[in-house]
Amino acid sequence: MTQAAPATTSGTTTFPLKFSLTPSTAARTEIEREEILADPGFGKKFTDHMVAIDWTLDEGWHNARVMPYGPLQLDPASSVLHYGQEIFEGLKAYRHADGSIWTFRPEKNAERLQRSARRLALPELSEADFIESIRQIVAVDGDWVPSAPETSLYLRPFMIANESFLGVRAAHQVGYYVIASPAGAYFSDGVAPIKIWLSTEYSRAGRGGTGAAKCGGNYAASLLPQMQAYDNGCAQVLFLDGETSSRIDELGGMNVFFVHGTDTLVTPRLTGSILEGVTRDSILQLARDRGLTVEERDVTLGEWQDGVASGAITEVFACGTAAVVTPISQLKGPNLSIGDPDAPAGEITMALRQELTDIQYGRLPDRHGWLTRLDAPAGQA
Ligand code: COI
Repeated sequence: MTQAAPATTSGTTTFPLKFSLTPSTAARTEIEREEILADPGFGKKFTDHMVAIDWTLDEGWHNARVMPYGPLQLDPASSVLHYGQEIFEGLKAYRHADGSIWTFRPEKNAERLQRSARRLALPELSEADFIESIRQIVAVDGDWVPSAPETSLYLRPFMIANESFLGVRAAHQVGYYVIASPAGAYFSDGVAPIKIWLSTEYSRAGRGGTGAAKCGGNYAASLLPQMQAYDNGCAQVLFLDGETSSRIDELGGMNVFFVHGTDTLVTPRLTGSILEGVTRDSILQLARDRGLTVEERDVTLGEWQDGVASGAITEVFACGTAAVVTPISQLKGPNLSIGDPDAPAGEITMALRQELTDIQYGRLPDRHGWLTRLDAPAGQA
C-alpha cells in the first residue's frame, strides 16, 4: 500500500489552515503560572492549551484547532501504539528584554519534520502550517514564555498515526499536535561540564534505518544504554556507528563537537544515521563566522583518545535545542576513560554558546535572519 501524496497537493489543504480556538476553562491563575515559571526544570509542566490538526487520506489536513491542554483519546488499536509510527520536533520560544517573543529557525524544524514524515510514511505538513501552529500556541499561551535568564518555552510538535487498524501499513489517519513546556536548563547542573558514557553494546541507528529522522523509536532504543550511562555516573550516552563501531555518531539526544587546538571545529558528518540538528548547523555557521576552520567528517574513537592524549583535542561539547551547548569533560566506557572529569568548560565552547544564546535572546543582532517573531502577525517583525 503506498502512502497518500503529501497533503499540500491533495487539493483540500493547499491553502494555509485556519485555526479555531476553544479556550481552557481550567487555565492556571497568574500566581500558579508564576510559581511554575520560577523553577520550570525541563519538560515537567505544560501550558494551558495545545494545538491539534487532523489528517486523513481522503481529506488531507483539516480541523486545525487550539484547545485546552489535556489527555488525547486514542483507540487501543491506534497504530502508533503498536508500530511506533511517530515523529516529533523541538524548538523554543524566547522572551527578549522588551517583552517580545521570538523563535529560532523554525523553517529548519518544519523541513526536518517533513523529512521525518517521509521516512516514517506519515503525511507532510507544510512549512506555513507548521509555523502557524507555533504562532497559535504562543498567541494563546504567550504568558507562559518565561523571562529569567536562559529560560524559554520549549515547543514540542509531534505527529502520530491514530488509525484503529492492526495491519502493518502506513496509517490512513494521523494527528499532529503542539504542546508547550516552560524550560530551564536541560541538565540538572545547568551548563556545568557533563560526563558521557560510551555504549559498546548498542547502536542508535544503522545504514538505511531511521537515524536521521526525529522519531520516537530512536529515543526508545536509546533508553536502555542511557540507563547504563546513569548507572556509571554519566549524563548522556554516546553511540558509535552501527556498521564499524569505530566512528562517533551522536549522543542519545544531541550532536557532538570537538575543538582542535584553538582554530578548528570538527563534528561527525551527516551519514544518514545522525540527526541533522538545527543547533549543530547554527554552531557550524557561527564557527565559520569567527574564522574557525570547520570540518564535517568521520571522527573515530581512536582519534578522540589520541587527540586528548596529545593535546590536539582541546575541548568537546554536545549541542541540541534542549541542551543548547553543553561542555563534555570526560568519556567513560568499559575499560575506557578519555578526558578529565574535573576539567572546566572550554573557552571556545562557552564563547559559541554565549554567541548563540545572545542571538536567540536578542542581545546580539540577528545577522543571519534566524529569528522569527511569534507575538506579531506573520510578516511583521
Ligand atoms: C531537543 O533537543 O529538542 C530534543 O528533541 C532532544 C531531547 C533529548 C529533548
